[in-house]
Amino acid sequence: MSSLLTLPSTASRLKLVPKALVAIPLSLNLIKSLEQTRIRPSNSPLLFFPPSLGLNSLTTHFSTSRSTVTPDPFHDNLVVLGIETSCDDTAAAIVKGNGEILSQVVSSQADLLAQYGGVAPKMAEEAHSRVIDQVVQEALDKASLTEKDLSAVAVTIGPGLSLCLRVGVQKARRVAGNFNLPIISVHHMEAHAIVARLMEKELQFPFLALLISGGHNLLVLAHDLGQYTQLGTTIDDAIGEAFDKTAKWLGLDLRKSGGPAVEQLAREGDAESVKFSIPMKQHKDCNFSYAGLKTQVRLAIASRNIDAKVPISCASSQDRSSRADIAASFQRVAVLHLEERCERAIEWALKIEPSIKHLVVSGGVASNQYVRARLDHVVNKYSLRLVCPPPNLCTDNGVMIAWTGIENFRAGRYDPPPPAKDPEDFKYDVRPRWPLGEEYAEGRKLKVSESEALGILNVASHSRCGGSEMSNGKSSIIDGAQSAWDMFDEENSLMHITTSSADLDNILGGGIHCKEVTEIGGVPGIGKTQLG
Ligand code: KG4
Ligand code: ZN
Repeated sequence: MSSLLTLPSTASRLKLVPKALVAIPLSLNLIKSLEQTRIRPSNSPLLFFPPSLGLNSLTTHFSTSRSTVTPDPFHDNLVVLGIETSCDDTAAAIVKGNGEILSQVVSSQADLLAQYGGVAPKMAEEAHSRVIDQVVQEALDKASLTEKDLSAVAVTIGPGLSLCLRVGVQKARRVAGNFNLPIISVHHMEAHAIVARLMEKELQFPFLALLISGGHNLLVLAHDLGQYTQLGTTIDDAIGEAFDKTAKWLGLDLRKSGGPAVEQLAREGDAESVKFSIPMKQHKDCNFSYAGLKTQVRLAIASRNIDAKVPISCASSQDRSSRADIAASFQRVAVLHLEERCERAIEWALKIEPSIKHLVVSGGVASNQYVRARLDHVVNKYSLRLVCPPPNLCTDNGVMIAWTGIENFRAGRYDPPPPAKDPEDFKYDVRPRWPLGEEYAEGRKLKVSESEALGILNVASHSRCGGSEMSNGKSSIIDGAQSAWDMFDEENSLMHITTSSADLDNILGGGIHCKEVTEIGGVPGIGKTQLG
């Protein structure tokens, strides 16, 4: 949507240092002379680029050769601590430069999730703050190391919840500052993709990646480390959010997060029994929408009188089977949407980078076995290979941060050790909204002419559209307004409309009853007077 901040790609935001320029101080001779197996690049002040050097101007050097992870004794001995706190998991891990995972610890906030039915940023921040020291200590203990054995600290700086990101960044800076270690800023979604290279050594750039989590649905073409083209993204909710809400509305046990609960129940159900429509059929691009499917699920649940307050464990067998049918039908359509978008993305990607051989599928939802099986079919049609990290590396974890840190470190991208103590008013560099790469022109969410008709309508909380009765008693008939249906998010009382002016007129003419209209697209003639 137009409110999206267009920050530069990862490559240009991070400090880019061409390899050659850091090679001298990191020479093996130096290491041998130190007679250490542990490498402490921070011992050499020459390692770090003088701040006066215009790092961004160096980005052009970067694209000349693609990053490969070939064995080299220096980098193989790196020992990197990775810290992740972007959402509801507090995670830390220690990984070696040769890919050996020395330890990993995840403290999940699943209990809070179950209690509040979603992530509440303030609560999540407090939960991170409570456990972060313990999680990092446990990662060190499990690896039988102390901070002194580390070579660097990698930390997620975005995207995510800023309050939560801060907790991780603060901790990383404290460890790095106290032990004079370089610090590596990591993009959370890039880490979801890059961790696949830890597991699959044959995975070279360029490759296509589908990243599916609670907050993101991304199709990106990975040209190189830090260099991505975004082929598609979600225009509203991510698939993980749809799984989570479906689980909540079906009264499932949320303690292991909603997705696994839906996946498990879906195994008992008939996936053809509830006729949900596939989102965005008419949009021939690689973008996603899950808000409309969420609404369809909610309506199906309401029409079958399923009461979420009755936990699935207490449901009658008929009630259970009706819930299982919804779970299975939802999962089938949610994944069909992924399949369709992936097919198109593969076709686009092969035109841009004909040498791609892999589709990486990662992020929490990629741990779903049904998702993996269906996408495996898709890639086979194109003679590509599917690469999915193991489930515990698909969901948020510290290993992916440490490994992406290692890859960045190898490419010379890191910051010098911070001071032992940050000043009180220090402004942490956290990036809650941070796109991964540049948008592919063909895949733009809106064409220019359509963007004139972009509007966000704040719809009265119980209204709905799609030819059904509104809860305030007035009818709302929107014939054929599939795109509006797709984008209606009842939960948040928001309707995102991305359609042509003519369609928008139709929709408004159809009689959506709105409490308030926020016009953000400069659409002529849209206002409260036309509604109701
Ligand atoms: O990547 P992730 O751990 O955190 C974010 O970055 O958001 O993804 C979490 C999401 C949640 O929505 C969770 O329900 C979903 O991944 N998820 C699953 C499964 N396991 C986790 N969704 C479907 N099936 C699963 N097995
Ligand atoms: Zn994630």
